[in-house]
Amino acid sequence: MHLRSSYRYAGVLGGLLRQRYQYSGFRQFRWYSRWRKETLPRGDGKNNSGRLDIPFEAHYKIRSHIEMLIQDYAKKPIPPITYQYLTQYKPPLQNNEQYMLSIQTVNLLLCYTCRQLQAIQNLPYIVVLNPNIELTNSLYLSTLETLLSVDYPYGLHHRDTMVSLLTNFLEEHQDTLTTLAAGFQEVMKFYDHEHVFRFLNLHLRNRISMKMLVTHHLGLLEQTDRFHQGITSNDIGVLYKDLKISSLVEQVGEFVNDLCSISYDRNVPVKIMEGHDVTFTCIPTSLEYVLTEVLKNSLRAHIEHSNSENLLTQKPVEVTIVRNDNELQIRIRDFGGGIPPAVEEKMFDYSYSTVAEKKNDTGAEAYILPGENVNNVSGMGFGLPMCKAYMEMFDGRLDIQSLWGWGTDVYIKLTGPSKEML
Ligand SMILES: Nc1ncnc2c1ncn2[C@@H]1O[C@H](COP(=O)(O)OP(=O)(O)O)[C@@H](O)[C@H]1O
Ligand SMILES: [Mg+2]
Repeated sequence: MHLRSSYRYAGVLGGLLRQRYQYSGFRQFRWYSRWRKETLPRGDGKNNSGRLDIPFEAHYKIRSHIEMLIQDYAKKPIPPITYQYLTQYKPPLQNNEQYMLSIQTVNLLLCYTCRQLQAIQNLPYIVVLNPNIELTNSLYLSTLETLLSVDYPYGLHHRDTMVSLLTNFLEEHQDTLTTLAAGFQEVMKFYDHEHVFRFLNLHLRNRISMKMLVTHHLGLLEQTDRFHQGITSNDIGVLYKDLKISSLVEQVGEFVNDLCSISYDRNVPVKIMEGHDVTFTCIPTSLEYVLTEVLKNSLRAHIEHSNSENLLTQKPVEVTIVRNDNELQIRIRDFGGGIPPAVEEKMFDYSYSTVAEKKNDTGAEAYILPGENVNNVSGMGFGLPMCKAYMEMFDGRLDIQSLWGWGTDVYIKLTGPSKEML
């Protein structure tokens, strides 16, 4: 493990023992309190350098405890998030339902966090030394600490405790993707491709699942509150009933065009060809993410291939929306020249992007605002593989058909929950 300060260990240990306390009686807890008293010389528990003064032996003990705990939780099987899971409790949630949901969310988050930590731990040393990757590691350690510090069982009953825990989680993990992507761009050349792919794929899929569990939980609580204020809605956590797909496409189109204005000072129309009235029950945040990435690629292709003859920036990217029962299909068709065969082979790889190699010819990068990478039109090479991850979560699909020299069709297929679940 790569910890900056032993202070962290002590915090995590506190939680660990507090949690074990319920299983193995007072003995360990008492030991822990005594240990804290004996080893913490000052009121705030820190020495002058801001670190805990713990003897080597105690330090070693703490370290192995945490490692054991991480290994333990990382081994636990995690069931995939399904529509069944998302619809098991519907708003308004009863008190016991809130409690059951808290147990599930915290336990699942613990398992995911430990898996993330273990995977980072297993990376070669040279990779973990990278400051950006070490930052990701510290963040997950701090998440572990927070999760373990929830009081069992009372904290789980307490609505506000859960809300602040989950809100903090979302805030803390907001920028992890940028951090990690930046880290991997720096170390990629020292590390073999297959391993990077496997690590990132698992890491990012776990991250998506964690965020979804948290947003779902918060959503259910908020919908319950609103119900008690007399406001009813059709939503079940992250799941939205009967979302108007064309409106979402239009919103995303406008957003991506705003990004294009910043990056390229140009725009491309997005036209809905079919399915203006189609509604579908789905997770809008996931679909929004995928639509954004796909449209970013299509608009970029139109802009970069536009010239005075083809006038591609005036030619719309075409979106067709079709629904059959509980299956939704969206085709996004662009005329931006297609994907070269060499790129096609690698386009689902993390960190693969044609942006860097073209840097000098297009000059577009000069317009990309620093620090805003995730929202930029392109460049991180995480767009398509992340879309695949989002789509495959609920048995959806993302397929790309490209006609090199002409354009690209992206097919999004989503399966919704069955009627009985809603
Ligand atoms: N619609 C498209 N038209 C042309 N090329 C595309 C299209 N979509 C994707 N690509 C190619 O695939 C690469 C990877 O895409 P992506 O994963 O979104 O990463 P990024 O956009 O950050 O480069 C892009 O750099 C681009 O070369
Ligand atoms: Mg992209």
